[in-house]
Amino acid sequence: MPLTLSVRRADAGAVETPLLIVALPPDATVGADLTALDAALGGALGRTLSRRDFRGARDESLHLAGGGRGPQRVLLIGLGRDTDRHAALRRAATLGGRLARKLGAPSLAWYSANIDERGVEVVMAGLSAGSWEFAETKSAPPEEERRPALGEAVILVSDEKAGERGLRSGRAVASGYALAKRLGMMPGNLCTPDYLAETAREIGARHGMKVTALGRAEMEREKMGSFLCVAQGTPQEPKLIAVEYRGGKEGQAPVVLVGKGLCFDSGGISIKPAQGMEWMKFDMCGAAGVLGALEAIGGMKLPVNVVGLVGATTNMPSGTAVKPGDVVQAMNGKFIEIINTDAEGRLVLADVLAYASRYKPAAVIDAATLTGACVIALGHTATGVFGADEELVDEVLSAGRKAGEPGWPLPLWDDFRDLIKSDVADVKNSGGRPAGSITAAMFLREFIGDYPWVHLDIAGTAYSETDLVVLPKGPTGIPVGTFLEFVRGRAG
Ligand code: BES
Ligand code: MN
Ligand code: ZN
Repeated sequence: MPLTLSVRRADAGAVETPLLIVALPPDATVGADLTALDAALGGALGRTLSRRDFRGARDESLHLAGGGRGPQRVLLIGLGRDTDRHAALRRAATLGGRLARKLGAPSLAWYSANIDERGVEVVMAGLSAGSWEFAETKSAPPEEERRPALGEAVILVSDEKAGERGLRSGRAVASGYALAKRLGMMPGNLCTPDYLAETAREIGARHGMKVTALGRAEMEREKMGSFLCVAQGTPQEPKLIAVEYRGGKEGQAPVVLVGKGLCFDSGGISIKPAQGMEWMKFDMCGAAGVLGALEAIGGMKLPVNVVGLVGATTNMPSGTAVKPGDVVQAMNGKFIEIINTDAEGRLVLADVLAYASRYKPAAVIDAATLTGACVIALGHTATGVFGADEELVDEVLSAGRKAGEPGWPLPLWDDFRDLIKSDVADVKNSGGRPAGSITAAMFLREFIGDYPWVHLDIAGTAYSETDLVVLPKGPTGIPVGTFLEFVRGRAG
């Protein structure tokens, strides 16, 4: 159930709500804004703070029972000493959403002092992310064990006009992330290339975007031998999905967002070990990021032209699958020697990146769960950022910082090109283990057109294999925020 978000001008002590969340900085005291709340709690808030039972550290939380009137329960959450106020708010709200869901509160109110427009937006995004869950493929628990799901959150504001503006963008951001996380979490047998195309059509219908999807026959006509060699091992129809959003001026060159959409990656003939293979349902998180970003961009009605391209298929071993040693020809004419059929994402993206040229893009950013090597290099903390255009790389890095999705640059020097030289073709699809995420990006570079380009390797950041404080196990929604802030930046 999506979270209904709203803003209201009200005093924290006076709101009738099952749960009031109060976000506090380190060593806070009861000021004028919290006097009524403290009174409603019979002075418990003041005592808690002066005893230093709650200190306002990052990720700290304390649950208080409410009084006879006002909020029924109060949850204090620490903002910590983060120098970035909005990042601290986003994190606290994410934790708040998570705890609220565990507490079984059907609705909540949020209060933090001096919240501005951007603050409202990030708190909404955080609450929605924290309370997000995927329950579509689980039976409901028996009636008596059921807790109400968090369905409503209201942010208490003092400036209602700014609050309303923050609300509009907050809703859009929240729905973009929710869409991407849902697609990521869906199992491969349900989230198929057809399903991604169907989802793209729904986004298009909601926001007036043009959606097209090429199938196998159309891609054959376009001579996409690289994409198609991955798809030849599965009877499932592959899809190259294009979503065109025209929010900018007529004729303005679009930003093109490209996503790897491997609905499942078994490795193909170069099959992966059984242990942990189920995680490869997340190999479409780049595609989910593109679709989630378009949902948010459409919701915000950003005045920019944006095209989303998704290369969707499934990498399977079979009698018809591509084999190591095979040579295929990409849409741009280059011959590729297949060394490892598990390096399939770059084969799909090669043709999608070549196809992107027809839009005469102002910039192209692709996102892909491309290499295990990127997880080794940057862990689950930073997205790998690659590009020859330094200005564009900086623009993407700063968009990622704004979104709370940090990236880190890795080099694309010509020396690395030697690692993907082939004896029989123009390039080979794997350079082996050394510099694995760089050689993957170098491979992609062979297929880009005449446009500025940045590649994001989100293999480590698109989903979490462990349960962390603010990050539950599962999809993170990355890179929805990076894409969104980039496009916002282009809106001026
Ligand atoms: N989808 C994987 C990369 C991946 C690995 C993503 C782990 C998330 C977690 C990709 O298609 C792949 O298999 N890459 C190979 C490339 C190698 C064969 C050159 C890899 O990283 O091992
Ligand atoms: Mn693979
Ligand atoms: Zn893959």
